[in-house]
This record gives sequence, C-alpha cells and structure tokens, in this order.
Amino acid sequence: EKNGYDHFMLKEIFEQPKALEKTMTGRLNKEAKQVEFEELNWTHEQIKNWNKISIVACGTAYHAGLIGKHVIEELTRIPVEVEVASEFRYRNPIIDEKTLVIVVSQSGETADTLAALRQSQHLGAHVLAITNVVGSSIAREADEVILTMAGPEIAVASTKAYTTQVLSFYLLGIYLSEAKGTLNDEFKEQLVEAITAIPEKIEEILEHTKGIQWYGESIKDADSVFFLGRGADHAVSLEGSLKLKEISYIHSEAYAAGELKHGTLALIEEGTPVVALMTQEAVSEKMLGNIKEVKARGAQVLGIAVEGDMKIWDYVDETCFIPAAFSILTPLLTVIPLQLIAYYTSLALGNDVDKPRNLAKSVTVE
Ligand code: F6R
Repeated sequence: EKNGYDHFMLKEIFEQPKALEKTMTGRLNKEAKQVEFEELNWTHEQIKNWNKISIVACGTAYHAGLIGKHVIEELTRIPVEVEVASEFRYRNPIIDEKTLVIVVSQSGETADTLAALRQSQHLGAHVLAITNVVGSSIAREADEVILTMAGPEIAVASTKAYTTQVLSFYLLGIYLSEAKGTLNDEFKEQLVEAITAIPEKIEEILEHTKGIQWYGESIKDADSVFFLGRGADHAVSLEGSLKLKEISYIHSEAYAAGELKHGTLALIEEGTPVVALMTQEAVSEKMLGNIKEVKARGAQVLGIAVEGDMKIWDYVDETCFIPAAFSILTPLLTVIPLQLIAYYTSLALGNDVDKPRNLAKSVTVE
C-alpha cells in the first residue's frame, strides 16, 4: 500500500508530479497552448456576467483558495474573496446571481463547505466545486465540477490534494481569461508552457531533500516557528504553518512579512526558527529587508528562494532553492519543502505522521 515509503504522507508528497500531470490531462492542451474544460458548460456571456467570485473552503482547501484569489485576480481581473466555510455560512454573505461561488474540498463531504454550497445556491449563485471525489455530496450538488486527479489521499495531512487544487485554479484562471480578454496570447502561451514544466520541477526538488530533512529535524525542540512571506509566498506559508502544527504539534504562525513591525517582531528572539519565502520578484527587495530585521534579532532563518537569486545567501542560516519559475507559479514549488519540513519534524518527534492526534481525515460534522 505504501509502495516502499514509510508513511502515506511521504508517498503522497512524492506522488505530486504524477497527480498534477493527471489533473492537466485533457485540460491543458500543450499543442494549442491553451486550456480546455469539457466539463464546464459556460458561455462567454455567462462568465462576463459574474462581477465577483467567492471561494469557500476549510483548512488546506481554504489555503488553496487563497492562492486561487491571487491567480484569478491576476489573470482575469475579476474580484475574488476567499472565506472559510464555517464563517461564510453563518454571516449572511453578499452573494447573488452575479456571483460565481467556488467551493473547494478534497473529500467533497466537509459539512461546513457543503452547507456553504447550499446556501450559495439558495441565494441564486452559480456554484463550481473543485473536489477530488467523484460522487461525493459536494460533487453531486454543485452546478459544475472540476475533478482534481490526485487519487486517494490517505494521510490526514493533505498534500497532493492541495497542489492539484492550486493547479486547478491556474487552469481555471486561464480559462476564464479567454472570456474576459485579459491575457495577451504570448503571455498565455508562456504560462501554459510553464505550467507544463511544473511536475518536472517538483521532481527536481524531490531529488534533493537532505537539506530539508536536516532543517526539519533541527527545529523539533522549538516552541514556536514563524513563516514569513509576501503575496503568494504568504498564502503558501499559511499552508506550511498548518502542516507543521498539524503533525508536529509545534506552535507556528505565518505572517505577511510587512506585518512584522506591527507586532510580531516582539516574538523573535535568539534562535527562533523563521522560514522566509522570497520567490515573489516584485517584492523580493522588501522581503530581504524583512529577513534582515529578524536576523538582527537572532532568528535562525531558512530562506526559500528561486535558483540563481543569490542575494538571500548572506542573510540566512540555511537556503533551499527552488527551480526558477514565474512568480505566480512558485506556490506549486515552494509548498514542497514546506510539506517536507513538517514531515521530517514530525518524524523526528516520533509522532504518528499519518494519523495526528485529535484530527480526522473527513470532517462531516461541524
Ligand atoms: C489539513 C487538512 C484539512 C482539510 C480540511 C478540509 O491537512 O487536510 O485542513 O483540508 O478539513 O477538507 P476537505 O478538503 O475534504 O473539505
């Protein structure tokens, strides 16, 4: 069952390149360099009618939605809000026929997400589900479904479901941009090509995990770990922080790096582990400034940066380089070391990696 891996989580982390390939198949047309979704029966008129997109989900699926917001807004200029389902369903959300609601759920059975779906339909919105399970309640009740092709996910900590959800948002963003006319052909083609190359780049990361393993082990006695980033790096670091909490039971937080000065910096002391993501070109100088700020307070910094971007080198204790990619696509790469850090920390602590305490794989009661 575990295919020679010690845990399902590790197996599922290593399955990500394949899971992404499968999710692209039939949707990402490599020859025509465009995105096709046979399962979506939308007209351009219908798409143009939506003045807002609301993404609703829980936990890791919510974190995929946060990347989705960056991607869809960037590619289509349609305003996107993202909310956890347990908040959305109890607060009289502003949703109507002009809203596309996207619910994201690996299992397709999460109670709060299902309730949000029903409420959205009741309010007249059109609901698209991104889910991994055919025939699940959410898949059956949604107006449209994009099926992620991650295959069964056994470990409680979600990994390959997240990356296939994130991929679905890239594909959807490109697809919606056709109706909106927001992307020029050249950029669209480059983006399609770059997405095609992602599975190989993940393979490259997975070939060199020694440094990450060492880092994961080195933080096992920490009281608290901080994840810092800006833009999409912040969104992905929320997921890294959740993974670590979930299976290592170490307290951790992800902060938008620009927020440091507004309170968090007080928590940094000699030896505090900080994982700093610096892959967003437009804000990399700003991020470097934040790294210097925590370093000056004695933080032990692991910098995650894009290959060739050597300016981080002098200011961190350890570095993990990911293969070069468009800034918008780096979450699919940076999340890999973050998943592995959580895995190796949990392993070093002797925890039950696949079945962390207090948690269930599918949350069908609220
Ligand atoms: C974390 C994790 C959970 C789920 C959440 C939603 O690793 O797995 O946070 O993401 O319970 O579950 P689904 O996606 O099945 O709706």
